[in-house]
Amino acid sequence: MTRVTLVVGAGGVGKTTIAAGIAALAARRGARTLAITVDPARRLADALGTTLDNHPSPVPGHDRLDAAMLDAAAAWEQIARTHADPATARRLLANPYFRAVADRFPSGQAYAAGEQVLTHVDAAGYDRIVVDTPPAAGGTAFLHAPRRIRTLVAGRALRVLTGPRLPGRRLIYSVTARPALMVADSVLGGRLLEDIAEFLLDLSAIYPGISRRSRRVEAMLQHAGVVVVTTPDPGPIAEARRVTTERLVPRGVPPEIVFNRMLPAGWAGTFPTPAADPIAQNLARWGLEASHHQAVLNAFAAHTGLNPRSVPWLAAAPDSPAALADLIAAAGIDPVS
Ligand SMILES: Nc1ncnc2c1ncn2[C@@H]1O[C@H](COP(=O)(O)OP(=O)(O)OP(=O)(O)O)[C@@H](O)[C@H]1O
Ligand SMILES: [Mg+2]
Repeated sequence: MTRVTLVVGAGGVGKTTIAAGIAALAARRGARTLAITVDPARRLADALGTTLDNHPSPVPGHDRLDAAMLDAAAAWEQIARTHADPATARRLLANPYFRAVADRFPSGQAYAAGEQVLTHVDAAGYDRIVVDTPPAAGGTAFLHAPRRIRTLVAGRALRVLTGPRLPGRRLIYSVTARPALMVADSVLGGRLLEDIAEFLLDLSAIYPGISRRSRRVEAMLQHAGVVVVTTPDPGPIAEARRVTTERLVPRGVPPEIVFNRMLPAGWAGTFPTPAADPIAQNLARWGLEASHHQAVLNAFAAHTGLNPRSVPWLAAAPDSPAALADLIAAAGIDPVS
């Protein structure tokens, strides 16, 4: 069975780095592994030293390790083709509103990613799938996306406008035939209302499929392992606490907490600081900072009852999958347990 791991956390804390490291270590320990990124920045590709698109491709020089990057537009295209008849799918894909959902609606993107992951789970080609989530809402947008997408496609507006008792298309024209839209339509050449009407009707056609599948995506995410990444800084820690204690509470398996960019525990302490010696003063400052890092990690542990892992702050960011795997192994994170 494929195990799915979601790597979540605030912006810039090291999610992509940790996700790439976990995937590289899992592969090194024998698991057929897919690292998949939803991050529109190409950092996972950079971290793994490869170029990525929607289709998994092998990471050069690393057996059992594939990587892919979610192309939301391509994923939505696949969703439309899976859930609608060919004519409806064609119309949807040509419709600017469908494109807008695919490109700009964050839950849409996160949902498309969830469907992709489920597709890989169903295909059973991997033992392990590690998902590098985008930073929105600490990555938990990903967890809530299936419900949100159902709300969108089953929303009241859509039901009223396309409901069985009403001639949908005509109603949309009359409901929306407000002066502003009529002006917009005449300015834009009369396509706006028609596009909206067509979009809503076609979307309602794919609703049963999305509804069914989104429940499976939801169940898969519910059983996924979650790695919450933070740095020892107040903002990311507040986010990690919120995600851990509020968002992830209903889950059976507790999340793995990773404190990234930690100063070495051995540096913690106070040092004598001869006023005339700037180097000694600098070391003293780092000693205090290292103590602070340990204190915030301990406070997090006490507050949540979890045992966070520390990943050291490296002078140069790891630049190969092997170095990333070493970093994760040294932190005691076991990606295949
Ligand atoms: N332990 C570390 N030591 C040194 N540099 C690190 C460490 N972890 C991450 N970095 C560097 O910090 C930067 C941000 O890391 P990364 O891209 O993994 O964060 P992210 O959480 O994925 O960011 P985003 O939210 O923007 O997607 C990168 O340049 C990365 O190489
Ligand atoms: Mg990232």
